[in-house]
Amino acid sequence: MTNIKHLVDDNVVWHSHSINQQDRERLHKHQGVVIWFTGLSGSGKSTLADALEQVLHHQGISTYLLDGDNVRYDLCCDLGFSNDDRRENIRRVGQVARLMVDAGLVVLAAFISPHCAERQMVRDMLPAGRFIEVFVDTPLAICEARDPKGLYKKARAEKLNNFTGIDAVYEVPKQPEVHLDGQQLVTNLIARLLNLFNKRVIIGL
Ligand code: ADX
Repeated sequence: MTNIKHLVDDNVVWHSHSINQQDRERLHKHQGVVIWFTGLSGSGKSTLADALEQVLHHQGISTYLLDGDNVRYDLCCDLGFSNDDRRENIRRVGQVARLMVDAGLVVLAAFISPHCAERQMVRDMLPAGRFIEVFVDTPLAICEARDPKGLYKKARAEKLNNFTGIDAVYEVPKQPEVHLDGQQLVTNLIARLLNLFNKRVIIGL
């Protein structure tokens, strides 16, 4: 993947439209935010994002779930797992999430996003307070024992390269908004996330 330069020339002019984020948030009756799940493959990110989305959806919250494996079927189907490609993957997803927040949605994003710099890049794309980083902290040995897709086995057999935790790095978040023990029951973890959501996200606009 070649580096894409951010080219905005003098002939491209920003339009300010009449309906803005605040108007859209009023319609949804809540703020737009990104809840960003990071952790190793098999740590439980997608499971937690899915469970949280179900609860929020049934509470009348407008949500959308962006999942690492799924976006690699379409938006990011041209990308692999080199450092450059992972960065571009997270950049694209970050921009999509930013637009969704502008649309007033609660975005649940589940990506390994192994580098601190990439997670910071997405945080910086969003207005202050609209990026909630959730570290799903599940030890490598547990993820490897779960191995739901058989990928750890392939990585150990050297049939899969650049696999996070095996021959590619995972940088632990330094100050995530939430640090979850991925070995706890999903119901307990969801209760913690809902508690935080209700404290951090303004509902009833
Ligand atoms: S990220 O590193 O760029 O954030 P992302 O979350 O999109 O990764 O995709 C991770 C998913 O891709 C994993 O859950 C796994 O199913 C699959 N995958 C395939 N190859 C790899 C690899 N080398 N490293 C990590 N995940 C991989």
